[in-house]
Amino acid sequence: MTSYKELGLVNTREMFKKAVKEAYAVPAYNFNNLEQLQAIIQACVETKSPVIIQVSSGARKYANANLLKNMAKGAVEYAHELGYDIPICLHLDHGDTFELCKDCIEKGFSSVMIDGSSKSFEDNIAITKQVVDYAHQFDVTVEGELGVLAGVEDDVAAEKSHYTRPEDVEEFVKRTGVDSLAISIGTSHGANKFRPEQCTRNAEGILIPPPLRHDILAEIEKRIPGFPIVLHGSSSVPQEYVKIINTYGGKLKDSVGIPESELQKAVKSAVCKVNIDSDGRLAMTAAIRKYLVDDPAAFDPRKYLSPAREELKKLYMHKNINVLFSAGKA
Ligand code: G3H
Ligand code: 13P
Ligand code: ZN
Repeated sequence: MTSYKELGLVNTREMFKKAVKEAYAVPAYNFNNLEQLQAIIQACVETKSPVIIQVSSGARKYANANLLKNMAKGAVEYAHELGYDIPICLHLDHGDTFELCKDCIEKGFSSVMIDGSSKSFEDNIAITKQVVDYAHQFDVTVEGELGVLAGVEDDVAAEKSHYTRPEDVEEFVKRTGVDSLAISIGTSHGANKFRPEQCTRNAEGILIPPPLRHDILAEIEKRIPGFPIVLHGSSSVPQEYVKIINTYGGKLKDSVGIPESELQKAVKSAVCKVNIDSDGRLAMTAAIRKYLVDDPAAFDPRKYLSPAREELKKLYMHKNINVLFSAGKA
């Protein structure tokens, strides 16, 4: 058993308390390789932002949980070396079983998500409580979820969304003892968050998605005032990346994300954790595609991963400063 405290990591408790009080959100960036983690830490140190580095079960399979844990330990040391000790939380994203959550806790994760959102209300409560009871013995914090996000990812898939029912949240939070709650108010996973027929088009033919259900968020906040709320599926799918990808041989179609203005509005409330993965994937892919087309003789991965890492860092700094308002909060 490794305690996250030995690794220099923190759980989400203090992070969220401060974020709710000061009306910003802590960024939760997914990672599964070295360059993503370097970019996250460089960006968050430079902007003095707290950060949640999160690992999906797909990422665990891809990269190995022990390696990821040691990368997180390295990230704490790297931030120190860069000159500023930001709070870093290592979080399991979309844990789907008690065993997976337990294994992460034993490997040094400081926070876990148990995603029982596809289960019945009672089954969701039961599994979430089981994880909370185990995690809290080790001062590990737990995120639960109510409501279903649409979208298709490797290991996170749902055909149809349904919004969180505000009338359920109080009972869920009370009976599970969970530390934060992910809700569904219109965000979704991946780079194609809405079908074209759900959107309108602006003069340039760009898809404009429907607004988030801020009314549901407000109703939830009314029922559990100050309780930490999490938004998944919060990539904005920057059209400049989509354009670069498609200019350099890619084939992304009808990609659309959550407008930054919608997120800026949400983080002013009790939303204190915002999950962003797809935007990072797009930034990296755009930079790599362009590099390889411009320099077809390149074959050293460091050559094409360096601009990808730079682009990622730029993206994360922008999110921290302009979208989540977490800059300067570490
Ligand atoms: O919410 C899902 C994350 O974007 C992780 O995706 O399961 O493909 O690693 P993944
Ligand atoms: P995006 O696909 O919008 O980046 O969402 C990521 C996420 O919710 C990870 O849990
Ligand atoms: Zn998610």
